Amino acid sequence: MSLAFQKCINPACAADYDIMQVLPKCPKCGNLLDVDYDWEKMALPTRVSDLGKVPDWPSGGLGAVSGVWRFGAMLPFAAPEQRASIGEGHTQLRRSPRAASYAGVKSENFRLQYEGLNPSGSFKDNGMAGALTHAGMVGASVAACASTGNTSASLAAFASASGRMRAIIFIGDGKIAYGKLSQALDYGAVTLLVKGDFDDAMARVQEVCAEEGIYLVNSVNPFRLEGQKTTMYRVLEGLDWQVPDWIVCPGGNLGNSSSFGKALYELYDHGLIKKLPRLAVVNSSGAPTLSRIVNDKGLKWNGGAVDDGIIADYYAGLDQRGEKAHTLASAIEINRPVNLKKCLRALDRLNGVALDVSDQAILDAKAWVARDGLGCEPASAASLAGARQLVEKGVIDKDSTVVCILTGHQLKDPHATVAYHSYDEARLQADYGEFGVRTSQYANHPIPVANSLGDIVDVIRRVRSDQK
Ligand code: F0G
Repeated sequence: MSLAFQKCINPACAADYDIMQVLPKCPKCGNLLDVDYDWEKMALPTRVSDLGKVPDWPSGGLGAVSGVWRFGAMLPFAAPEQRASIGEGHTQLRRSPRAASYAGVKSENFRLQYEGLNPSGSFKDNGMAGALTHAGMVGASVAACASTGNTSASLAAFASASGRMRAIIFIGDGKIAYGKLSQALDYGAVTLLVKGDFDDAMARVQEVCAEEGIYLVNSVNPFRLEGQKTTMYRVLEGLDWQVPDWIVCPGGNLGNSSSFGKALYELYDHGLIKKLPRLAVVNSSGAPTLSRIVNDKGLKWNGGAVDDGIIADYYAGLDQRGEKAHTLASAIEINRPVNLKKCLRALDRLNGVALDVSDQAILDAKAWVARDGLGCEPASAASLAGARQLVEKGVIDKDSTVVCILTGHQLKDPHATVAYHSYDEARLQADYGEFGVRTSQYANHPIPVANSLGDIVDVIRRVRSDQK
């Protein structure tokens, strides 16, 4: 008998289902499902600092090096030999003094969590380890997702590494950064460029998976979110299991923020940590559904009785105005986040806030992230931009301990980065003005120089004397 089961998130329904069922939503009430456990029977460590220390993977498998499965005690829905892995979760929690100064908090109290160091270059590998494990358990041979690029790169990598799973990915045509598209193509995924944006691709993939019996790995899949919980365990581990005051992360489809909330309140509810951090979820102002619906429309978790009318009205308004998500942070260019309700629950439990930041603020923050030696893609920098805004507004106290999550690698989407550092203002505005980008005040401009020893040495001497 498995310790795990699936459970509807709506407390008024609370239906539960066997883990061997493939259910994109609750068949009874249509809400999202969680993976839940019989906690009384689980082999939890008595001290939180023992989490992650007991690798129980049979020797030789990739799972032996998995930064997801070493926390298997907190996601015991599969037997060790069933676990899918491409060696994910070897990420770093870094001190980042320059980014700390940009956020406005003390250097010793600030960290960046680099999830871009996963094998496919984004945090998605954490969750894909969970989803593809479940896909294997139920005998699926084809898996699909809609994606702004990172989920699809991760699925494509896991599927090709498995040698037996076919990946089909739905991309909003023209809505994907080249680094990510190149991964899906290279790893051999069937790549559908759907005329439309992510929200359209997400709607279609759900219909297609239901009709064709294809395994869906978008974050409506609760097994994916189980894998994504492990980012929080690694953050806490990196802080010697001291709970920070704030976790700040970007918000797109809202799977990550939802899973962070679940990871943390499960630890708290089962006595493994003594306090909960606060959670800040940061949209781009070009795709601000969470921020607007929480701050302007007052939508709340409300004990699970979420006001569906507010959500329906909000989406009807988008349709009436013909408003589409539009941000250069293409990873979070999403206006209809499928995990909205789970994220509301996480905000409720973690006394969280939602906000949005401009694309200009995202690019400026991104330049500061990279000054500490590891870069990120634009969407990821929403977390640092968001932390800065919250410190400026006094929501985050200057003495707080803050962890910003960086979700994707710098090389995923180098276009805007190169433009930011090398274009003059006129060209920057011509290319990125549609996103509200006007300046690049933190640019590191490349220096054109003649092919001559004398000229090159002159430039270098000038640079060195400026350094003094
Ligand atoms: N950052 C990056 C780099 C992402 O790729 C995504 C989501 C997010 C943040 C937002 O995370 O959806 O959990 O709120 N990318 C998805 C994709 C949508 O298809 O790759 P979220």
